[in-house]
Amino acid sequence: MKPKYYITTPIYYPSGKWHIGTCYTTVVCDALARFKRMDGYDVFYLTGTDEHGQKIEKYAAQAGTDPKTFVDGVVGELKKLWSKLNVKYDKFIRTTDEEHEKAVQKIFQKLYDQGDIYKSEYEGWYCTPCESFWTKTQLKDGKCPDCGREVQLTKESSYFFRLSKYQDRLIKLIEEDPDFLQPKSRRNEMLNNFLRPGLQDLAVSRTSFKWGVPVPFDDDHVIYVWIDALSNYITALGYGSDNEELFKKYWPADVHMMGKEIVRFHSIIWPAILMALGLPLPKKVYGHGWLMFGNDKMSKSKGNVVDPFILSDRYGVDSLRYYLLREIPFGADGSYTNYSFLARINSDLCNTLGNLLSRTTAMVNQYFGGTLPTEREGTEFDRELEEKINGVADKVRGFVDELQAPEALAAILDVAERANKYIDETTPWLLAKDPDKKARLSNVLYHLLEALRVVGKLLLPFLPDTGNRILSDLGLHDDGTFDGLTFGAVQYGKITKGEALLKRIDINKELVEMEKLAEPKEEKKEEPKVEQKPQNNAPKSHDEGPKPEILIDDFAKVELRVGKILTAEKVEKSKKLLHFTVDTGDRVRSIVSGVAKYFTPEEMVNKEVVVVANLKPATLGGVLSEGMILFAENEEGLATVEPGKPVGGGATVC
Ligand code: MSP
Repeated sequence: MKPKYYITTPIYYPSGKWHIGTCYTTVVCDALARFKRMDGYDVFYLTGTDEHGQKIEKYAAQAGTDPKTFVDGVVGELKKLWSKLNVKYDKFIRTTDEEHEKAVQKIFQKLYDQGDIYKSEYEGWYCTPCESFWTKTQLKDGKCPDCGREVQLTKESSYFFRLSKYQDRLIKLIEEDPDFLQPKSRRNEMLNNFLRPGLQDLAVSRTSFKWGVPVPFDDDHVIYVWIDALSNYITALGYGSDNEELFKKYWPADVHMMGKEIVRFHSIIWPAILMALGLPLPKKVYGHGWLMFGNDKMSKSKGNVVDPFILSDRYGVDSLRYYLLREIPFGADGSYTNYSFLARINSDLCNTLGNLLSRTTAMVNQYFGGTLPTEREGTEFDRELEEKINGVADKVRGFVDELQAPEALAAILDVAERANKYIDETTPWLLAKDPDKKARLSNVLYHLLEALRVVGKLLLPFLPDTGNRILSDLGLHDDGTFDGLTFGAVQYGKITKGEALLKRIDINKELVEMEKLAEPKEEKKEEPKVEQKPQNNAPKSHDEGPKPEILIDDFAKVELRVGKILTAEKVEKSKKLLHFTVDTGDRVRSIVSGVAKYFTPEEMVNKEVVVVANLKPATLGGVLSEGMILFAENEEGLATVEPGKPVGGGATVC
């Protein structure tokens, strides 16, 4: 019997405000679910929508309609987005599903009957966007400590859940089971900020609005939306219904995945409810970081969103999936820029993967008419590539088990990179000129096909279209398993020389196009125009005299990082500007400096320099600049400012 694997995303607010940050949790879980399915697990992947609460009631009123009509429309849009992004879930639950509502009422009733829920008076502060209650001392500058927005003083009669009763068990759980809550930083946050200072009982009903599941024994109250929402993880499996078969089969969840801002609900309130219900706890709660835009979380209210439909229509669904899965260090925040998106596609999907596929299939066609002769001559030199091919599946499996998608993809791409290098080392074009080397040539090309096959298969969960495309060019298809991921497992028929996997992007031109496509941002009107004065472009006199005194807080606003210069080149049509790509640890940035007079591009490569990392991006000489490299200046010219010893891109300067 296959082992079971139950994975969930949070259920989404049907706000209609989708952006690539919203897609993050779902795409990551989709890749994990697909991987586990291929790896022999019986997977149940759940997602859905969180449709009740004051916030949705407000959205509906703004749209001039009733809440149910409003959510019905928006849920359709969300499903279209998941289908567009190739997300393959096993169930989409809506909290307005009758079966869910009934089960939530049963849960509430049970907790009330056994004394875990009691009635009292609630006085406190409510944040509607987060649907969260706060005490006065928990507020930050009088605002919601989670999102920083206004809160309303609320005084209502309310039912309370005895959360405080579960405090000691929750502390023990988080302290003693390191697997339960990950990454580690979230554990410390929950223990130090919430659990150890002491839990208060939680208000779990509201009387000030109607859009929610009614408390079964009190018509004036609706059930608090987070109790309603969290229960979806078990009601989706039929808990509390006439048929609990799925629940018996799949519960407890193997992974609840979510963004870090809602870890508190999943690692404190949810396990406490499960403890009260006498049910097993989820095996893992994982709080990933945010996709940021500059220094802010990407969110519609901040007007900094990037539209997933536009990106996937223009660059392909797999380009967007690849970016989300590969670029953002899992568990930490990652900053989106158009440049980092395009650079990732070019370097990994076009250069590494696309080149390997097109060079290999072209050579098999050119030298052997598409079909490799079976006579092959191997050498010791082939072993390294063979070992890489043989070792990659276990490596990737290990990373997936740790929920590290970026590392898993890096390991797959590493095989493709090694295979590209193998082409340069074995020089098939020279072998092709020598009639005695036919068997050697055939063996070299066979190695490349094998590398591509294993890469293509392992890519299927992450980039389904790309994986399928690679396999189909090799005359193979997805058999739904990871069988045969070792070198030599397959003999090939006719190899197709297909279209290029992806067209290489002219990044500078495309950045201009992307600006045109960007949604008009509301705040833009008030924003001062980005200063186009080139950073470091024309170093002024080296001594401009003393500047006014500043406070340490002013200096603290400047984010200084060490950046390793990866590439350097002259900016076309400019005598002054050099264009660098710089690894600053958080990402690879495009930075333009007006220093062509002082340095050649070659001497700058591999230098570790100091970068002002939080400078507003600007376009210099038609090229995006996302930061400023610091230089020291005297009468003789400029010198780079470098750490005293190599410290690596990403070290902070303090
Ligand atoms: N409805 C609640 C969840 C209830 S679960 C019982 C909710 N919904 S949400 O629509 O606001 O968020 C859904 C998911 O999208 C969350 O995992 C959230 O962290 C994620 N993201 C929304 N914006 C994001 C980024 N900018 N970056 C990464 N993930 C983000 O919360």
